[in-house]
Parts: sequence; structure tokens; C-alpha cells
Amino acid sequence: MILSHLFYLISASSVALAQSRTMGFIGCSMAENVAQGYVAVGGERLWAPYGTGAMVVQSWTSPNSASWQLFDRQATQNGKPTAVWVQICIFAQAGATMQEVTQLIENARQHAAPDAEIYITGQPLYEPGQTCFLAGADGPELTDSLAKQAAEDPALNVTYPGSFLLRQGEVADGCHANTAGQQSLGNQAIEFFG
Ligand SMILES: *[C@@H]1O[C@H](CO)[C@@H](O)[C@H](O)[C@H]1NC(C)=O
Repeated sequence: MILSHLFYLISASSVALAQSRTMGFIGCSMAENVAQGYVAVGGERLWAPYGTGAMVVQSWTSPNSASWQLFDRQATQNGKPTAVWVQICIFAQAGATMQEVTQLIENARQHAAPDAEIYITGQPLYEPGQTCFLAGADGPELTDSLAKQAAEDPALNVTYPGSFLLRQGEVADGCHANTAGQQSLGNQAIEFFG
């Protein structure tokens, strides 16, 4: 009887500790790929996908953009996030600058709960021989190096947890993750964010 009470207490406290959907994110369809896989493999901290397709860096530079309004609606549903993952995602022609990335970080702070932890990554990298045609030949690498650069600046106070990777056989259309790729990205997100 004591043992069964103990099990009850353990399971009750793990439910109470589960941090459900307290980490927001911004990014494009590539962030949705991660979030889709994350939910599929049982991740609980990061938000589920919320319709951020095509929302590259320039969609998030103005703090009042349609994309941020979408984020705010999600924050109303889930509660203001205590952490935000900023994914730098680009179209080949537009690219991105460090100034734009800094703007994204400032906006993330403004739209999250006070003292929220900000994580930053590029869009996923690929195994040799593949890339994302939408981002351009060296696009994914550019976004990854911008993320690293941001994390090296103490004034920005952001964490770079590592780069996401899509392997051979995990890419659907010359850019996005297929189902296996989503699950792989989801597991990588659990390693990065819990
Ligand atoms: C840096 O971010 C953390 C959250 O990750 C926050 O608690 C802290 O106050 C920030 N530090 C400064 C100097 O803004």
C-alpha cells in the first residue's frame, strides 16, 4: 500500500512539473517541420506548429507584423512563453543581415514573458550533396553562422544550442523534411530544448 502511494506521488508530481507549450518559436516552414516532429515524438515544452510557412527573417523584423500578431494569438492560447526559439530562415534573394537578426531577438524579448530565455539557430543544415533551394546554395550555412555570431555577442544574451541536421533520405522536396526528417528534427529539438 505504501508502495502504491509512492507511485501515485511520483506520477502526480511529474504531471505537475511537465512544462507544456511554454516555449514559443519564430521561423518559417522549416521551424514548423521541427515543431511537427517534436509533437510527434512526444515533446511538450515547445509550441506546436501554428502556421508560420514562408515567414522568413523579414516577416519578423517589424514588431507589429502579421507574423508577430500570429505569435501573440498563440501566446494568448498557450500563455506568454518563458523561452523563445528564434529560427533564422531565409529566401535566397533576400538573405539576412546581423542587424535584422538583432531585431528578431529584440522583438522576441518584447513579445515573450519578462526575462524569457532566447535560443537561436539557423535553419537545418544538410548532409553533403543536398541543400534547400529556397534558401540558396549556401543559405542554410549563412543562417547557421548568423546564429553563432549572435550567441557570441554577450549583449544579445542568447543561447545557440547547435545546428539542426537533415540527413540523406529525410528531405522531401529539395528543402523540407519528410516524415522521417520531421521526427529526426523533433528528437534534435528535444536534445536542445527538453
Ligand atoms: C539574460 O537572459 C536571461 C534569461 O535567459 C535573463 O534571466 C537575464 O536577466 C538576462 N541577462 C541580462 C543581462 O539581461
